[in-house]
Amino acid sequence: MSDTDTWISACSTADLEPGTGLKVPGTCPPIAVFNIDGEYFAIDDTCSHAEYSLAEGYVDGDTVECELHYAAFSVKTGAALTAPATEPVGTYSVRVHDDQIQVAATQRCVIAESRL
Ligand code: FES
Repeated sequence: MSDTDTWISACSTADLEPGTGLKVPGTCPPIAVFNIDGEYFAIDDTCSHAEYSLAEGYVDGDTVECELHYAAFSVKTGAALTAPATEPVGTYSVRVHDDQIQVAATQRCVIAESRL
């Protein structure tokens, strides 16, 4: 997390079961957070192949497979693991604060509540 980041609440820990992910509300470009065996990880939600939501994908171990053309990404590192994606996606720091899963997003990545 850098000085220009801010913590954004994604959801409560009770709302993100192991092996699932969701799109973090109020972030642009969008961020997705995943529960991998009780650990939380955040990556860009937008697939680097053709801009589909990775939160809609299939979680298998510590990877997520894009629902559109089935490229797989590491949820931990953002690396593109299989074609057709060749470029990684970004990663973000995650913390749990008062049972809320929060991700560190750059200020420009946060949409003002009034614009939602
Ligand atoms: S949009 Fe994700 S693999 Fe094509």
